Amino acid sequence: MLLKGKVALVTGAAAGLGRAIAESYAREGASVMVTDINAEGAAAVAAAITESGGTATSARLDTTDPQQHMDLVARIESTFGRLDIAANNAGITIPARPTADLSLEDWERVRSVDLDGVFYGVRAQIPAMQRAGGGVILTTSSIAGQRGLWGMLPYSAAKHGVIGMMKTIAWEYGTEGIRALAVGPAFIKTGLEDNMPEDVRAQLPGMHALGRMGEPREVGDTFAWLSSDQASFLTGSYIPVDGGYLAR
Ligand SMILES: NC(=O)c1ccc[n+]([C@@H]2O[C@H](COP(=O)([O-])OP(=O)(O)OC[C@H]3O[C@@H](n4cnc5c(N)ncnc54)[C@H](O)[C@@H]3O)[C@@H](O)[C@H]2O)c1
Repeated sequence: MLLKGKVALVTGAAAGLGRAIAESYAREGASVMVTDINAEGAAAVAAAITESGGTATSARLDTTDPQQHMDLVARIESTFGRLDIAANNAGITIPARPTADLSLEDWERVRSVDLDGVFYGVRAQIPAMQRAGGGVILTTSSIAGQRGLWGMLPYSAAKHGVIGMMKTIAWEYGTEGIRALAVGPAFIKTGLEDNMPEDVRAQLPGMHALGRMGEPREVGDTFAWLSSDQASFLTGSYIPVDGGYLAR
């Protein structure tokens, strides 16, 4: 029970890595606010957590709307009394396309969720953590936050950008007990691979030193440990959860 008594918020938690983060937080004893643009999906995840003995509630949150972040944090404070942990995880990709072929809409779409959405989130979460006397802010970056990925310029720019945000927050609020970390998964089995051509899918395991893709729970459990007091001297870092992908 690494997170007993803590109150945690997760964005994009109706599916994939967000769901796994919410489940790991709950297994470690946190009270979890499960949020997603898909309200029904978020409610189903919160119900599943509650059914298995955890504490969770849900809310609809479109991370591209700054006011919704403000309202959500107010709701968390009135429901649970405080906010200790915020996993800014919601993110999207678009079909890969070389840079000169990208439309302005492609750029705006990815930027609005993967970069703006994280900024709007931390802006609302930091004051609540100051009121709580400290906290942990995390974001789901990616291997694309450390290197370029063909056809993924908006995504790579955003995933590099959120690492800069965490470094900055670490310096601005470290002495107030607020830590900030970026987590970098490689290819995790979230169903995203189902839409890839067979030949690309076949290459994915071999891109990792461990010879396999990651499991969502491996990312969730990393978030849980990083959010706990066991990681109390970690801040401003990029933490890879990539099975050795970047070790080449
Ligand atoms: N799956 C991977 O292999 C992988 C690897 C590296 C990084 N990531 C990152 O992990 C995060 C989660 O990805 P995933 O693979 O679980 O994706 P996913 O598509 O399985 O889940 C994303 C969730 O975010 C929600 N969402 C989308 N737009 C939103 C918005 N505006 N506001 C709130 N919620 C929104 C969706 O409804 C969905 O439930 C993303 O930031 C992604 O870039 C994933």
